[in-house]
Amino acid sequence: MKTRTSRISGFYKRSLAERAALVAEWAGLTSAEQATLLGMSGLNAQQADNMIENAIGTYALPLGVATNFLVNGQDYLVPMVIEEPSVVAAVSNAARLFREGGGFITSSDEPVMIGQIQVLDLPDIYIAAGAIMANKAALMAEADKVGGSIVKHGGGARDIEVRPILDTPVGPMLIVHLLYDTRDAMGANAINTAAEHLANHIEALTGGRVNLRILSNLTDRRKARAEGMVPAKELATDSISGADAVKAIVEAGVFAEVDPYRATTHNKGIMNGVDAVVIATGNDWRAIESGAHAYAARDGQYRSLSHWWQDSDGNLCGSIELPLAVGIVGGATRVHPAAGLALRILGIQSARQLAEICAAVGLAQNFAAIRALATEGIQNGHMRMHARQLAVAAGASGEMVARVVQAMIEEGNIRLERAKALMIELTSK
Ligand code: MEV
Repeated sequence: MKTRTSRISGFYKRSLAERAALVAEWAGLTSAEQATLLGMSGLNAQQADNMIENAIGTYALPLGVATNFLVNGQDYLVPMVIEEPSVVAAVSNAARLFREGGGFITSSDEPVMIGQIQVLDLPDIYIAAGAIMANKAALMAEADKVGGSIVKHGGGARDIEVRPILDTPVGPMLIVHLLYDTRDAMGANAINTAAEHLANHIEALTGGRVNLRILSNLTDRRKARAEGMVPAKELATDSISGADAVKAIVEAGVFAEVDPYRATTHNKGIMNGVDAVVIATGNDWRAIESGAHAYAARDGQYRSLSHWWQDSDGNLCGSIELPLAVGIVGGATRVHPAAGLALRILGIQSARQLAEICAAVGLAQNFAAIRALATEGIQNGHMRMHARQLAVAAGASGEMVARVVQAMIEEGNIRLERAKALMIELTSK
């Protein structure tokens, strides 16, 4: 069997239709499915009407594919939905460099979510906590009764924890955590159903009053990790040596570990990659965002989600860890036609595998950003992208885009008026 590789050089130079055809062949898509990718069909207004209230139409975003990803020895093409230029190109280039270091190694926790039950008006908070702990097994069995298909697939309640919070403006409260394995689902519905179901039982056991019953988006039991190495020699350019680039990138990483102002932007770059995959696969990116940022502040100071260092051979190493509650069943993952295709392109078999890919993409995206920032700065690449958009706006297509862009860059005059003038000059030649 021919081994397939995501290391596709010049993917960006192909036409849009060629790229879609290549990806369709990679994922074994039918021509109708390929048409969905190209936006000829995709989510229609009727489907949108079934997804949210008061629908009046749909809103499209670009779907791109990142190349070159090698994760745990397996090749991936990564679908990404994002409106920001440069992100897909930067992450593909980064993945190519990590490939030289053997690709990404990833891991993840079991898909265990937390459901929170807030108990107030307790006669004695510690007696209440004891009663819950003494009846853990019964409460877990009760939660599993309403677990439906998740329990049939081997998921369900895993543990119960209690967290007394004594000093609050509304008096003491006991927070009960239901730890619940949601398997391949993101699991919000399952965990909320279980938490609501337990409320009466908890009131009966404690003599208290239950208020909120809802999942926590700080899914710190459901984290994914990625690690990778870029050989120093791959970082050398005409203007900087590999060793100096490694040093500058490590310094940039430390900046984000110690300063919340920088950490916020650093993590924004990470989420450029993570969110794009989360959105492409129909997952809830607000849940992922809130979880990631809360985790980044877990020790009381907001810090970077990644860590960069130099290994004993002088190469650049990076790692990332963040909560990643993504699913491959349920929700929009199966309702949105393009989300289903994104999962097919990834060839994903489990929610954990998807979470690990997201972590690898986050790390690669972060590397791309801080490498650019620590070496030539990002405006260079951005201006090229901006020039490209102006060339297209001026009416350029095909190879004329690159010619107009090149001329504007060489002249240092990147404006729509100049793009229009160049179109006339170059076509009349
Ligand atoms: C831009 O979308 C993201 C960056 O600002 C991230 C960073 O500064 O690390 C380039």
